[in-house]
Amino acid sequence: MTINHYQKRYDEVSLSREKVFRDPVHDYIHIRDEIILSLINTKEFQRLRRIRQLGTSSYTFHGAEHSRFSHSLGVYEITRRIINNFQRNFPKSINHPDQWDDRERIVALCAALLHDIGHGPFSHTFEGIFQTDHEAMTRAIICSPETEVNRVLRQFDEYLPEKVASVIDHTYPNQQVVQLISSQIDADRMDYLLRDAYYAGVSYGKYDLTRILRVIRPYNYQIYFDFSGMHAVEDYIISRYQMYMQVYFHPVSRGMEELLSNLLDRAKYCYKEVPETMQTPIDLLTPFLAGDWSLEDYLFLDDQVLSSYINQWQKEKDPILKDLAYRFINRHPFKSILVADDTIEELKIAAQQVFTANGYDARYYFGENSSFDTPYDFYKPYPTSTKTQIDLITKSGQIVELSQASLLVSSVAGRERGDHRIYFPREILVTIRQKDAADLSLAERMINDAYQAETKDVTHQIQQRLF
Ligand code: NI
Repeated sequence: MTINHYQKRYDEVSLSREKVFRDPVHDYIHIRDEIILSLINTKEFQRLRRIRQLGTSSYTFHGAEHSRFSHSLGVYEITRRIINNFQRNFPKSINHPDQWDDRERIVALCAALLHDIGHGPFSHTFEGIFQTDHEAMTRAIICSPETEVNRVLRQFDEYLPEKVASVIDHTYPNQQVVQLISSQIDADRMDYLLRDAYYAGVSYGKYDLTRILRVIRPYNYQIYFDFSGMHAVEDYIISRYQMYMQVYFHPVSRGMEELLSNLLDRAKYCYKEVPETMQTPIDLLTPFLAGDWSLEDYLFLDDQVLSSYINQWQKEKDPILKDLAYRFINRHPFKSILVADDTIEELKIAAQQVFTANGYDARYYFGENSSFDTPYDFYKPYPTSTKTQIDLITKSGQIVELSQASLLVSSVAGRERGDHRIYFPREILVTIRQKDAADLSLAERMINDAYQAETKDVTHQIQQRLF
């Protein structure tokens, strides 16, 4: 496609008057392109209103009920502001590596808006049980001719669906566009930190977005930051670190996740092995329980569908399904204790003995969760498959990697911090703790000791790993 043709299309499809959406984080989301408004109005994008951004975190931070819809608009808005800045300050003259080619504008904005379109309800837990994959679903929703999203993209340019999908999976040739949507400091992370902090009601995730938008720039076919903005970028990295430690890795949210995972696993078991115990119609979930589902089936799922089935399962005949559903709906998360790497195996065996002795089926009343397995985002100061370091550029053109310039960032760079926990019903611990020490079995004593160690010694609560 030639430049002129692209430009002509672009002017043709601008809205006669800009539209705005009011947003608590960015004030206004500005929309000038008809294609963006049309994408927002598709049924696949509207579905994101019914999927919470943070899944089970709202059971710990009750304000955090915001949707993937609002996050996606936020990522679009940040991308739009960055691109407008690039176009004002770094407009491209023929193929220059330090400038921005505004013909990429529509691809970048569509990718920003659609980057999470494939997420389902309680994404990570659901994916673990039903073998779905939100990244594959994102590509399917964008590229499959049966979706409204695909139709809107194709009407603009028949190659646009493939271009947008390739930005999201990092294979798009222009790496500036890819890095705007996905890198160590991209529009996705910039939005979710502010948004999640705002809705969770914590102040950790705040940083100076306005300043970052001022110092971000295209350079050497990639995205860099002016050295003068070092402290704003540093603040963003530290905010992100604190949000992970305080909000995303919260042990109670993970306890709800473990509960949900066992609950869905039990529903799958009942459906297959004892179908007569499943009395309630659960048509929208059936294809997933049966392991034979289509894109259309996937698009019918959302948090409300799943929550209403779980609510109904409280009335089912199967005692385990019924009990786990009751615990989930009424927020009785599994209790956790921290385990050290060297004792995990024997503690797991001990825990299972205790559960069985107390009449619990360990397959459904035990969970193991390591925050190291949760999708994390600490700062890596060296490149892996995509650009993972943040580079600053001085006035004289010298390039400095962020952790070399910032004392604070150097203290968190290249390290993962997290913890490994086992989860089980709280009443098991209560029973153990009510017994005389002399009456405890060996297995019960191990659980009790692990619990005591956590409450007495805070120094071993956080493990650290280098990567
Ligand atoms: Ni996102």
